[in-house]
Amino acid sequence: MNLLDIVRRELKPEPWAEGEKIPWNDPAFSARMLPEHLREDRDAASRRAAIIARHVQWIHSHVLEGRPSRVLDLGCGPGLYDQRLAALGHVCTGIDFSPASIAYAREQAAASGANCTYILGDLRSTPFGPDGSYDLAMLIYGELNVFRRAEALAILTKAHRALAPGGRILLEPHTFEAVQSVGQGPSTWYSSHSGLFSERPHLMLYEPIWYAEQAIAVERYYVVDAETGAVTRHASSMLAYTNDDYRQLLTEAGFHDVRFYPSLMGEPDPSQAAFVVPVAIA
Ligand SMILES: C[S@@+](CC[C@H](N)C(=O)[O-])C[C@H]1O[C@@H](n2cnc3c(N)ncnc32)[C@H](O)[C@@H]1O
Repeated sequence: MNLLDIVRRELKPEPWAEGEKIPWNDPAFSARMLPEHLREDRDAASRRAAIIARHVQWIHSHVLEGRPSRVLDLGCGPGLYDQRLAALGHVCTGIDFSPASIAYAREQAAASGANCTYILGDLRSTPFGPDGSYDLAMLIYGELNVFRRAEALAILTKAHRALAPGGRILLEPHTFEAVQSVGQGPSTWYSSHSGLFSERPHLMLYEPIWYAEQAIAVERYYVVDAETGAVTRHASSMLAYTNDDYRQLLTEAGFHDVRFYPSLMGEPDPSQAAFVVPVAIA
């Protein structure tokens, strides 16, 4: 692509048509993303360690009721939750399609002896394991919204089969309002000598679009190479759900007794108000 392609762009592209999501699974991008998971100055691709520790404590004591459990972490990133859950006596399996994150998670587990297994794979195509082999499946930090509804339903249905009867699903998707405010946000740009989207000097032109009828936010990222003018486009679409929509989705996937919590600490957390936490029984 070049600059003219930006000027001539479709103003309202079909959601998901210009790209599935930011390229988490691209090896070079995932290597640049890893420090974003591990940074401690702010919450980025993962949260800061102190927040994760509080989430894990709530998952352990409330969702798992302190019982040693088999945990399936979908979109586990570098395994920051699994590492801590394993230290509390749980056996964890994480699946993620980011090669740098999975390599880091495996190194950490090998170094600490944590009972964690990591699988490099796409949640849409990777088997989750034999039926009934987990007590908890989790998909947190907003990633559910980035899938088309049919894909989200297929992932949750597969998770349902992988859970033992009475097992739990723990989700942490975005609130409807959070997705809407992404889509209605301003277009912005920045320049960088080297950053997440390119290690070369570049401009990043960011454009969100809100589709009120479909309740979808599309985000476009145009990376303009500062030396050559070549343009690379990434796009990500997010579907907004109300709590009733989440309940419906989980029910269609086979779950029952859906309960909503205000955060992964079980209580309201103003810093995480963009998320809601449905928990349901398989
Ligand atoms: C926002 S990060 C959260 C990581 C981790 N759950 C945490 O909270 O620290 C989302 C993760 O989902 C993964 N992911 C997104 N889509 C995926 C897919 N289709 N298959 C596997 N992993 C995926 C990304 O690679 C990334 O590691």
